[in-house]
Parts: sequence; structure tokens; C-alpha cells
Amino acid sequence: MNITVIGTGYVGLVSGVCYAELGNKVICVDKDLGKIETLQAGEIPIYEPGLKELADKNCSAGKLAFTTDLTEAVRQSDIIILAVGTPPMPSGEANMAYINQAALDIAEAMNGYKIIAIKSTVPVGTNERIHELIRTRTSEPFDSISLPEFLREGSAIKDTLNPDRIVIGADSGSAADTMVELHRPLTEQIIVTDIRSAEMIKYASNAFLATKISFINEIANICEKVGADVTKVAEGMGYDKRIGQSFLKAGIGYGGSCFPKDTRALIQIAGNVDYEFKLLRSVVEVNQDQRFNVIRKLETIFNGQLRGKTVAVWGLAFKPNTDDVRDSPALEIIQYLVENGVKVKAYDPIAMENFKGLYGKEGVIWCNQALDTAQDSDALCLLTEWDEFAEVDLNLLQSVMKQAILIDGRNVFKEEDLLGTDFVYYSVGRPSLN
Ligand code: UGA
Repeated sequence: MNITVIGTGYVGLVSGVCYAELGNKVICVDKDLGKIETLQAGEIPIYEPGLKELADKNCSAGKLAFTTDLTEAVRQSDIIILAVGTPPMPSGEANMAYINQAALDIAEAMNGYKIIAIKSTVPVGTNERIHELIRTRTSEPFDSISLPEFLREGSAIKDTLNPDRIVIGADSGSAADTMVELHRPLTEQIIVTDIRSAEMIKYASNAFLATKISFINEIANICEKVGADVTKVAEGMGYDKRIGQSFLKAGIGYGGSCFPKDTRALIQIAGNVDYEFKLLRSVVEVNQDQRFNVIRKLETIFNGQLRGKTVAVWGLAFKPNTDDVRDSPALEIIQYLVENGVKVKAYDPIAMENFKGLYGKEGVIWCNQALDTAQDSDALCLLTEWDEFAEVDLNLLQSVMKQAILIDGRNVFKEEDLLGTDFVYYSVGRPSLN
């Protein structure tokens, strides 16, 4: 099939590359000329394992191309997939400006029947609204499809090529059939629903996963007080198939460009129809507070005297295997420390530059290596569970630090890893070692 994907962010780029990998002819469109030139030169503007290799392969095979010319791309395609950003506005509502503009641009370019699918996460009712918007601007025939995306950053290729399910929201049987045919090579698990239910499935899924995380984080906080170990609790819970093992890792709370945005947006969507989503409000509140557990632990250790201390931070990305720092808990943790007179030294294997750009403030010493970061520090906070941190020699680490104090915000280390060291060790929802 001939496909245009509009928007070359995470979702658009990975989807475009993967549709090409399935044998389709794909054109990825973006307004950002710099980004398109980068992609045309064979560079990938985001860090995503395996993406460059797959993009190179499909570009060489003539199945994948990048352009800023939306009109030409739409004219050559049967299926148009919208994957532009819907960033949050101050109210929490998703900003529809990019979707609206892309819809108008598509309408202008139409030259015959098309399927127009929205992959961006959009409030319930958006597909219908966009359908009407395009309808008022063109007399060419088209069908609208809601095609929610479930890929995770860091494992985006695997998630896209081996999805748990594909959800297709459609009100036309033949358009749904075409979309089922397009995705059939990926999975048998294809669910066709009405458009509004498909839009809701996306928000409900992210909200539920966020709920699991806040739930286990609260259990972790209670475990700390009653002397239980949350990793054992989660494992014991997870063997119940109704609960499942995944998304029960306690830590410093969820971040990234999806859960924080989508939970707030769903609260707003509910509010717009006079429904207060109390549970989800609490999920967001718990998540916001969880990141400050790291600080509370430091304050306990230093008897409230943080000022003048040197604290090393390992990990700035919102999770490992990505350079994405949007809504990363590290942003607020570091800001709090700096504002309270702490000398902060920070390091991330991949996300340093993005973090510096988003943090945009003075007062942090940026380091190039894990051990250099810890050198002469009074405490070390591990905020992202990159493999390289788990592999560090803890005796060597202890020898370079001024005080051997480790706050493990992601439960990377086990008690036995610390045997033979003098670390004061605090993790999340597990007994501390002093
Ligand atoms: C999330 C969803 O998992 C995807 O299915 C969805 O497509 C995507 O949002 C989206 O809406 O586009 P992503 O944000 O890439 O994907 O990352 P996740 O792997 O879900 O992690 C999100 C956050 O939760 C991270 O900060 C991670 O550290 C945290 N997390 C995750 C935990 O604290 N504990 C867990 O057990 C799992």
C-alpha cells in the first residue's frame, strides 16, 4: 500500500519505518525542514535502538522517503496517517493545533479516495471533528480511522512489529477491512471498534498503567514503614494472572511524554462531561509526590542539612534506553536540590544534551562518566536504571565518594550486591542498609 505518515516524532517516525518494513511504500512528512534534511542524510533525530538500521535498510530499498511536501505525498498515497504532536496546554487539555492544520493541509491536497487515520493521542470525538473539518474543505471521498498507538520509547521497534494488539476505530466497513489487511502481518489480535471507543482505549490504557505504577509506589511507601520488601510483594501479586507482573516496579514515579500528559488529559476529558475522575486525580498526585521521596531520604540522612552538600545524580532520562527527558522526575529533583544549596553533579549516558536544553538553568556540574560524577560527593542518587549503573564496581564507587551514601530510586541493586561495602543504602519500598 502507499502510505503517507505526517509528523516525524517518535510515533510517526517509528510507524513509518515499520510500515515500510512490512513492504509498503511510505513517505514521512514533516514541516520541520531541518529534521527532514537530517533524515534524508540518513541520521535519526531521536535515540531509539534499532531505528537507524531499519530506516537505512528501507530507504535503500526505495520503500521509505522523507519530505516536507505534504501535498505531493498525500497525492501519491491511499492511506494518510496523522502522527503529529498533541502537547499539553496549561489546562492539561491536549493542544489540537497541529492536528487541525494537518487536516486542512490534507483536505487541500486530496485527489481521490483516501483513508485518513489518526495515530496521535486525541480526545474522544476528535476523529469525528476532524472528519467534518476535512469534509467542509473537499468534495473528494474519504474515510476516517482512529488508530491509537501503544509503542513504548526504548522498545518502539519491537512494540510496533510485535504488538499485543492493534485497535482500529472505524465507521466504514471497507476502510476497516483495508486497515486490518495492513496490520494483519503484525498480529492476529486486531480489534475493530467504533471510533470513539478506539480513542478511549488509548487513554484508558495509559491511565490504567499509570494507576498500576502509583499503586505500587504507595504500597512501596507502606512497605518502608512496616518493614516489607515491595519487590517481593509485587512479584507475589504479579503471579496472579488477573494482576500480572508488569508495571509494578516501584520507583520515583512515571515521567515521559505520555503518561503525565494523557492522565491529565483524561481528567480534563471527564471534567468536560461533568465527571470527576477521582481515582486518576489521586494517581497523578501520588506520582507527583513520589519523586520527592528521594529528597526526603536525603534530608533524613543529613538531618535536614542539605545546604553545602555535594550530591551526584545518575540518570536524567525518564527511563532507560531513551534520550527523552520530557517530564523526567530528574528535572524537579535536581531543581529542588540546586535551589536548596546543594552542589549537584549529574550524568546520563545518552540524555545529557536534551536534559541541559530542557533544564536550562545554572548550578549543575555536568559530568561525562558515572564514576567522575560520584567523585567527592556526599551522596549519590540513582534516578534512571541504565544498565551501566548496575554494572559499576561498588567498592570502586565507594572509594571515590566522600561519603558512601546511595539512594537507589529504581531498586537497581540487591542486598547481596552491597555485601562487603560500607554503603548507607536507601531504595524504594525495601529495608534500608546502614
Ligand atoms: C507509554 C505506554 O507504555 C505505551 O504503551 C504508550 O504507547 C506510550 O506511553 C504512549 O502513549 O505513546 P512510554 O511513555 O514510552 O510508553 O514508557 P513506559 O515504558 O510506559 O514508561 C513510562 C514511565 O513509567 C517511565 O517513567 C517508567 O520509568 C515508569 N514505570 C514504568 C515505572 O515507574 N514502573 C513500572 O513498572 C513501569
